[in-house]
Amino acid sequence: MDTATMDPARIAPELADDIESVLISHEDIQTRLREIADEIEVDYAGNELLLVGVLKGAYLTMADLCRYIRLPVNVDFMACSSYGSSTRSSGVVRILKDLDTDIEGKHVLIVEDIIDSGLTLDYLVKNLRSRKPASIEVMTLLTKPSQRKVDLAVRYTGFEVPDVFVVGYGLDFAERFRNLPFIGTLRPEAYA
Ligand code: PRP
Repeated sequence: MDTATMDPARIAPELADDIESVLISHEDIQTRLREIADEIEVDYAGNELLLVGVLKGAYLTMADLCRYIRLPVNVDFMACSSYGSSTRSSGVVRILKDLDTDIEGKHVLIVEDIIDSGLTLDYLVKNLRSRKPASIEVMTLLTKPSQRKVDLAVRYTGFEVPDVFVVGYGLDFAERFRNLPFIGTLRPEAYA
């Protein structure tokens, strides 16, 4: 892609070649995360919040969101793997890394990078709910409503994206592109 549309110092030329366009700029991501943090501050005022980031994709959303929330927060992480192809999840989820902490009686907010079919999150919410938290809600940076296979209650959503392959800001293709500072679309030749 044309590197003039982004800061070339922040992206490897090898990655830029595979990017078709910038779908959501770094600045727009930060603005939206600050807005969501403002909502979270109101909703959780007076409560201690536990943010649960879902690795790996949510690591940048988690890092930025938690710094915008002016409340005492704890952070923890889970890692899951979904059996299936590299571009579609199957709904059969395996926990690779569980929480370090007991969430009973705590206010839990799951932080995701993207909800596609919703199957990963459906499993995670049910799993965490069985541990008796005081409350459990979901925040996702991106959502692809056209791909949804289950009904999910999502409290905070950053952006709706069309059914295109998106990478960057935590999201990968074959483990690459996670460190792009924006959400971009991949050239079809890059994943064909
Ligand atoms: C992605 C993403 C979500 C899930 C969404 O994770 O981070 O957890 O897929 O898909 P779904 O709504 O169809 O279930 P992925 O399995 O690619 O792992 P990663 O975060 O480590 O890249």
